Amino acid sequence: MPSDSPVIDITSHDTYVVGIPREVFADLRANNPVAWTEESDGGRGFWSLTKYEDVLFASRHTELFSSRLGIRLEDMDEEETEARRTMMEMDSPEHTRLRRIVARPFTPRAVVEYEEAVRDLAKEVLANLNGKTEFDFVKDIARELPMRMLGRLLGLPDEDLDWLVSKGDALIGNSDPDFTDYVVDQTDTSEYRLLPFRSPVAIELFEYAQLALEERRVTPTNDVLTALLAPTKDGDTLDDPTLKNFFALMVAAGNDTTRYTMTAGAQVFIDHPEIFAALPDMDEAQVKLLVDEVLRWATTTMHFRRTVVEDTELRGQKLKKGDKVVLWYISANFDEEQFPDAEKFIPDRSPNDHVAFGLHSAHLCLGAHLARLELRVMFEEMAKAWTKIEANGPSERFRSNFISGTKKLPVKVSWR
Ligand code: HEM
Repeated sequence: MPSDSPVIDITSHDTYVVGIPREVFADLRANNPVAWTEESDGGRGFWSLTKYEDVLFASRHTELFSSRLGIRLEDMDEEETEARRTMMEMDSPEHTRLRRIVARPFTPRAVVEYEEAVRDLAKEVLANLNGKTEFDFVKDIARELPMRMLGRLLGLPDEDLDWLVSKGDALIGNSDPDFTDYVVDQTDTSEYRLLPFRSPVAIELFEYAQLALEERRVTPTNDVLTALLAPTKDGDTLDDPTLKNFFALMVAAGNDTTRYTMTAGAQVFIDHPEIFAALPDMDEAQVKLLVDEVLRWATTTMHFRRTVVEDTELRGQKLKKGDKVVLWYISANFDEEQFPDAEKFIPDRSPNDHVAFGLHSAHLCLGAHLARLELRVMFEEMAKAWTKIEANGPSERFRSNFISGTKKLPVKVSWR
């Protein structure tokens, strides 16, 4: 079983600055699909699931693979786990209850209504380039649209958005010195261990959220925050700590993920000018397929973790109660057994049941419909505005074993 896999540490943040170690994951899928993995930072180790089928199995069997004890690689004690719990670190029935309350503005029916707003914002973002031909795609396009849309949904003033998103970046980017002063594996963050992402920045987000909620209690408005304050049909409501945690989760989970997936799309258009050239003639269904292939291709959240609830066996490996199990979405989405020509970008790939949003799980990304809409509309508007997009200098990858992304992508475009 043990293989001649090259010695590349899949738990190290630095590994992903260079790129995704595709050959390591391919080797694990072929030779050791349920692999015991040591952690370079002294963590207690975990099982790596790298096959599509196994990732799906673990996602579906929440009675065996729990989210309650953490969804990141990091080991947390009981006090930390409790203090930092969001809906992501819950199992049913607790999770189902919360999800029912917060899901209302994110259902497909609700999201269809946002298309006009997303399109207006996408046009505005492109217009703000003022005909510039050379710029950083991440900063000027991919960061802008998700940020503005989140601001619109939450009913927040435009002038607060940049500040807010930089706080979300500091949380999700807690392993990249470009985004935070509190780099988890380079500074002592033990003082902040009870805060999301072990970062004091979370306090600023909580304070902001508290004020925003108080304002809406006095003067209800027509936004998602006001909607979340309203009781459900059966009278259920959320307390303030839960609301604040959810606010921080949206700012952190809703921005970077969409941004880096959009950037991966731009990279595809650079690498395949024929796909970008074909975009204006694609109908909505075709662009939707393209978007899903970009989502698979990017697999921006590379993994999520679960914890074994009771001793169980998977492909002959004995998983013990309490063991950490990591679902490597970045590997599952490139599993040849599920995706023919997995290493090829196929714009009309169908079927394409990728796990970029955590397919078929109770925790399926809440923002999936919104993210798909933002990606589709932005790609459509880019193709209306430009005939071509080219690389214009070296790009830079994000330092993280969790989020795969390009944080700087200098481009040159030709306007129509
Ligand atoms: C391309 C963009 C995105 C990607 C790749 C992505 C990925 C994911 C994944 C893989 C999960 C599942 C976590 C798990 O298995 O434990 C998830 C959950 C979640 N996502 Fe996203 N996400 C994206 C955009 C968004 C947006 C735009 C929002 C909100 C505005 C959002 C909010 C959430 C929330 C609240 C959860 C937790 C759901 C739950 O626990 O029930 N995401 N996301």
